[in-house]
Amino acid sequence: MKVLHIDSSIRQERSVSKELSAFFMTTLLARFGALPVDYLDLSVDTPSHPSALFVQGNYTPPEERTPEMIAALAESEALVDRLHAADIYVIGMPMYNFSVPSYFKVFIDNIVRINRTFGKKDNHYEGLLKNKKVYIINTRGADFSAGFMQEQSMDQLQPYLERVFAFLGLHDHHFINVYPVQFSGQEARAKAIENARKTITDLVHML
Ligand SMILES: Cc1cc2nc3c(=O)[nH]c(=O)nc-3n(C[C@H](O)[C@H](O)[C@H](O)COP(=O)(O)O)c2cc1C
Repeated sequence: MKVLHIDSSIRQERSVSKELSAFFMTTLLARFGALPVDYLDLSVDTPSHPSALFVQGNYTPPEERTPEMIAALAESEALVDRLHAADIYVIGMPMYNFSVPSYFKVFIDNIVRINRTFGKKDNHYEGLLKNKKVYIINTRGADFSAGFMQEQSMDQLQPYLERVFAFLGLHDHHFINVYPVQFSGQEARAKAIENARKTITDLVHML
């Protein structure tokens, strides 16, 4: 069982999502012993934005790609290889402006790749990332159980990721939504983090 641990908070210190994704990893390794772990901090190793050459290369059969196209796709190929190599993805992710951090969006733009992470036959699409488990620890500053934050449209993160993950074949995904961590005081923040730790512990023990 190989684990891909991804973080996407801009913070290097005092990041709740990083602290909780690290807690997930510690709990997982305590349960299963030393597992191979691949770590990717998207705010440090941020993938490049896809270029026009990337897009052209992506839709050109591999054997017909020019050296320039191959070079433009190299970073994406390496990221896709890392996704295929792992069995479990543990993702720390803050909500930024109702959706995913741009660090994570550019990662998605690199890994949604025809014949690499999804296939198409006639008009039928098929995800190619098979038999993976995905855990998303999504921290949010606001209290989504109160006021206008309860409106479905305030959360453009989970519905978006559920759609992308399903498209890639990642149907076994679990969201651990942690809120409020910023705008409702220390007590509410501490309670949210404590509840998340309990949920993570339960999820790891169900593995
Ligand atoms: C640029 C930016 C945008 C944010 N947008 C939202 C938001 O739309 N909704 C929300 O509940 N919190 C928002 N927050 C608060 C973060 O979600 C919260 O501080 C974060 O989950 C904490 O994660 P971290 O400690 O790992 O960085 C935002 C924070 C930043 C820095």
